[in-house]
Amino acid sequence: MTPLKIAVAAGKGGVGKTTIACGIASVLAEHGRVLLVDLDPQSNAAWGLGADPTQPGTAELLLGGTPTPIKITDTLSVFPGGPGLKGHEVMRLDPEALADAIAIFDYEAIVFDCPPGWDHLERFGLVATEAALVVVDAHPFAIQGAARVVETLLARRQKNRQGAQRWALVMSRVDPRRTLDKDLEAALAAMFPDLKRLLIRQDVALSLATTERIPVTNAAPAHCRGLSDLRDIVRWLQDG
Ligand SMILES: Nc1ncnc2c1ncn2[C@@H]1O[C@H](COP(=O)(O)OP(=O)(O)OP(=O)(O)O)[C@@H](O)[C@H]1O
Ligand SMILES: [Mg+2]
Repeated sequence: MTPLKIAVAAGKGGVGKTTIACGIASVLAEHGRVLLVDLDPQSNAAWGLGADPTQPGTAELLLGGTPTPIKITDTLSVFPGGPGLKGHEVMRLDPEALADAIAIFDYEAIVFDCPPGWDHLERFGLVATEAALVVVDAHPFAIQGAARVVETLLARRQKNRQGAQRWALVMSRVDPRRTLDKDLEAALAAMFPDLKRLLIRQDVALSLATTERIPVTNAAPAHCRGLSDLRDIVRWLQDG
């Protein structure tokens, strides 16, 4: 079976990529086997799910090794990121290197958590995937970062290159009481009129899950707004 592959990217740091990547991986793992590939030298996703972030993972995989995915639950596993991703050997690899390396893995879904400020690492994720979530918050820097990611995705698709064929914006940490957040939807609709807009509201249950290093599906109250928003995003991803 071909796995559903999803990259979470932003072109900007600190907007909620890892929280969303861990969240959707945890939700998907309720119904099938899921692998989270941490592409970040910080290895936050692996840490936030409770794995040892220093274990061999994505860098070793990219360099032709055979690391074993770390099991978080019966159905959720992770390849940690780590400083090895910053090495020259990784930097010299083709953009398709990760797509090739993960082809042998048999999962129902694979989620790529892309890092901020490392374009070639982000590209490994965007090329290895079928769908992308472009995370954005109300700050102009984040909107500029999202625009760069969307440009990259569009350019690749127009040239029939391997990689994401569909993508959506995810407005992150939205608090409707904040003036900037109130204007975000309209600003994105004007800038990206054809793009689907999804939403993750500000919810302490989401940040607590990664702080406590437990998948959000086990850590958060079943009906909290963060989990409900994550489930809506997963529905969009699965509807194709
Ligand atoms: N929906 C949310 N509600 C509350 N807090 C959130 C939410 N999303 C993210 N956060 C918090 O915001 C901070 C940044 O989130 P996160 O690490 O997921 O961002 P990131 O984009 O992956 O950052 P980086 O660019 O460093 O990888 C964290 O403290 C996280 O707990
Ligand atoms: Mg992150």
